[in-house]
Amino acid sequence: MAPSRALKTTFINPELSGVDFTAKFPQLLDCDAIAIGFTKNEAGKSKTELPSFTLVGPKTLVRKIESTFALNLLDELTFFSPSGKAGEIFELPASVKGGKVERILLVGLGDGSLNAHRISAGAIARKFRGKKVSIASLVVGDKSALETHATSLALGGFQWSQKSAPVDGAPKFLINSEKSLDRAAVISEAVNNARALIHTPANIKNPEWMALQVKKLAKSPSLKVTVKSGKELAEFGGLRAVGNSSPKPGPRFIQVSYAPAGSSQWPHVVLVGKGITFDTGGVSLKRPYDTMTAMKSDMAGAAAVLATVIAMPELKPKVRVTALLMMAENALSGTAQRPSDVITHYGGTTVEVINTDAEGRLVLADGLAFADLHLNPDYLLDVATLTGAASLGLGRQYAAMYTRSAKVAKDLSTSGERSGDRVWHMPLVDDYAIALKSSIADFNHTADKPKFGAGSVTAALFLEKFVGERNWIHLDIAGPARSESDTGEQPKGGTGYGVRLLIDWITHL
Ligand code: BES
Ligand code: MN
Ligand code: ZN
Repeated sequence: MAPSRALKTTFINPELSGVDFTAKFPQLLDCDAIAIGFTKNEAGKSKTELPSFTLVGPKTLVRKIESTFALNLLDELTFFSPSGKAGEIFELPASVKGGKVERILLVGLGDGSLNAHRISAGAIARKFRGKKVSIASLVVGDKSALETHATSLALGGFQWSQKSAPVDGAPKFLINSEKSLDRAAVISEAVNNARALIHTPANIKNPEWMALQVKKLAKSPSLKVTVKSGKELAEFGGLRAVGNSSPKPGPRFIQVSYAPAGSSQWPHVVLVGKGITFDTGGVSLKRPYDTMTAMKSDMAGAAAVLATVIAMPELKPKVRVTALLMMAENALSGTAQRPSDVITHYGGTTVEVINTDAEGRLVLADGLAFADLHLNPDYLLDVATLTGAASLGLGRQYAAMYTRSAKVAKDLSTSGERSGDRVWHMPLVDDYAIALKSSIADFNHTADKPKFGAGSVTAALFLEKFVGERNWIHLDIAGPARSESDTGEQPKGGTGYGVRLLIDWITHL
């Protein structure tokens, strides 16, 4: 048995969103339910032959359960003939003298891939979400899927609510594992912390509030936090132009760095996150108006880079990580910027503002230029809910990834498949560079004329103007940052997309 740490995930709102899981194998019979995984095999050649099933969990334990409860699980499966799709749950009532167990769940594992494991764990967690029950999971047979299973249980159990009624409690998942599941605990806690921030509405979540949360979360002595506001932002023309639309409390530049003693020779990853606490569009007001209601999640990039750096002291990669959170509200007010304004970004580049709803690239430009000029990054990566165009092209399952480095693109794609936060490599189409020509400033901030239609590409080309010669990666997460429905491992609303991807990539550098 692995040394076990009771992995209580700590959330910002713990009573509402806790899922507890532990690597220590439980007294099975003290649980309320036992979950066992199965796959359905291809039906034999003859049409009359019944499809056969395989029980996936640890064999001796599964056999022991069958004898204890006097059940033949394969017979049950053959009789009821479930489809075997990932996430399908088939329940059997069960009881034994002296035990608490009331049901055995047979859980479909689809094709047995990591993605299928994510879906099935999400389904189990969702089923028990908000309930004070304990479930022993014997779903995973193959050790390589254990971390994924554990992570997705904790993600599927996430809850965030401002309801006044008290909640019942949180389920406790007990996972049979030889090895420690600490990494799964750290990763799922990081994702759920990001989700909690994204779910928080903008009347609570302003840039100052975010700075306060960062200080609360960055407790480790190997993390350093600095916050700039007011006059300290004099050179951050983009952040000020957007954030001064909401003068109280105004924008914040938040820097969180992980650089423990002895790390000066390690590679340095700088992560820049778009942190728009609410995006009305500004003077170029969003229409139709109801597209605005989702816009408390326009800081999902900042939440992702924050949660990633916060996880570093526990994961201890030999990589220095700095997160820059570009926090501002894009409000409609008397102090809002106007279309046609010219602003000066960090480092001196001037930009003609075309449409105040393209505010994300303005705040990111300052962060990228600051990183290039002061932080000497080996990798400079930004994460942003930047363009509706990215989600039109790719939907909600993939982020649009832009980079000139084939090596980094390949590594991030691999991390995406492995972690569940998938990316698609998009082209930086140089033919569209003329879209950013301005007659009065260094650049236009959006493509006004000619119209190329590739809104996500031209946004990326704009950002590239601020990265100098750095090894730069841009992730447009407008699609996967939000889920429109409560399915799989995802709650409706902020998904925490990017945290698993970045943690996987950094810890494999
Ligand atoms: N935050 C939005 C992008 C967005 C849209 C994210 C929908 C998630 C869902 C961004 O600030 C924005 O408004 N982008 C504009 C850019 C345009 C004005 C060039 C867009 O995509 O329409
Ligand atoms: Mn906008
Ligand atoms: Zn925005």
